Amino acid sequence: MTNAALRARPGAALRGTIRVPGDKSISHRALILGALASGTTTITGLLEGDDVLATGRAMQAFGAKVTRTGEKAWTVEGQGGFAEPADIIDCGNAGTGVRLIMGAAAGFDLRATFTGDASLKKRPMGRVLTPLGLMGANWLCREGGRLPLTLGGGGLTGIRYVLPMASAQVKSAVLLAGLNAAGETLVLEPEATRDHTERMLRAFGAVVEVSDEAEGRLIRLAGGQRLTGCHVDVPGDPSSAAFPLVAALITPGSEVTVEGVMLNSLRTGLFDTLIEMGADLTIANRRDAGGEAVGDITARSSDLRGVVVPPERAPAMIDEYPILAVAAAFASGATVMRGVGEMRVKESDRIALMANGLAACGIGVEEEPEGFTVVGTKGANHPVRGGARVVTHGDHRIAMSHLVLGLAAQGDIEVDEPGMIATSFPGFVDLMSGLGADVG
Ligand code: S3P
Repeated sequence: MTNAALRARPGAALRGTIRVPGDKSISHRALILGALASGTTTITGLLEGDDVLATGRAMQAFGAKVTRTGEKAWTVEGQGGFAEPADIIDCGNAGTGVRLIMGAAAGFDLRATFTGDASLKKRPMGRVLTPLGLMGANWLCREGGRLPLTLGGGGLTGIRYVLPMASAQVKSAVLLAGLNAAGETLVLEPEATRDHTERMLRAFGAVVEVSDEAEGRLIRLAGGQRLTGCHVDVPGDPSSAAFPLVAALITPGSEVTVEGVMLNSLRTGLFDTLIEMGADLTIANRRDAGGEAVGDITARSSDLRGVVVPPERAPAMIDEYPILAVAAAFASGATVMRGVGEMRVKESDRIALMANGLAACGIGVEEEPEGFTVVGTKGANHPVRGGARVVTHGDHRIAMSHLVLGLAAQGDIEVDEPGMIATSFPGFVDLMSGLGADVG
């Protein structure tokens, strides 16, 4: 996709049945675990988005052989460990990629230099470097724990680490380092975060113990475990499915089904919230696919009402607040989203950008340090005006959220830098157009 501005225009009802690209979290992990493992890992349904492709190139640089064998089908020939890369590792826009790879690399006696795009270079890496340092890794980085940075690994010792923020990336980095540390590594998460690393480590043959303790969820992993290549079938990304589903909810006369969406309960907070808001959202054909729950989700246009989103639900929908804010704009009453300070350190400051974008479209928003409230327009005497050009700071989810808003607003919405949509949702415009949306 080029980076020329994209425009969404209000128009017809959305109708159809689609599949969205593979889950981003699982795709990164499949490549990384495949590279750490011995033998062949086959992956189907891989998200062929820019972020994941950067992780694939990184795994090649660390010594694995990564091959595309067909559409969304890849193999990884792992070497049972990482070798020192000959050049700088560029992780593009991907926080998940760089943080998990740093964790994995720290377990080996090597030096590696990491960088990324302008957005990734602004994001905090100290949250990963601190526990890796406690385990024995060393690094040299820019001020504030920013990329580019050089990491030196090897000779690690397991630790017991209490996550200071709800971050699956930090948890995963510590666990991946723990694979090649002496003794046990324990991570205690006061709030449960997505558990794809734990699940996938088991699929690759590792023993990972998880228990619910009074202080939170405790994950325990013995060092020195070897991984064996396996098959990973990547289910559809619920964070991507969110866009066409919310588009259907807010566009009158719509009915859209997204098939094969991952329904891991640590990822489905948005769907729970939308149902509480009165959304006609139904899940059919629930099944298990490669250790993850999967189902087909149908959304029909609905009269939504504002809710107070429980802050403890944030980890299960942290990437979905931008699109929830769009749904909230079309609801009656206010939707209160608190305990989401982590949104400020994503690909952009997502609280600020959503507040600015929605305000530019004529919607009432109140911004707080760790949250925001969106005043719904349904039943009020001011509609969602639209007619704005929205600044995305190159954030894929900010771009897609505002394009969805434009489908049901009174006036067109244009987003700058839409090229970044390809980091997580290649084919977004074609898929939405196929449902009848006027985006282009
Ligand atoms: C991810 C974890 C989340 C999420 C990101 C993917 C992962 O980040 O926002 O898109 O795959 O582990 P944090 O760990 O920073 O919350």
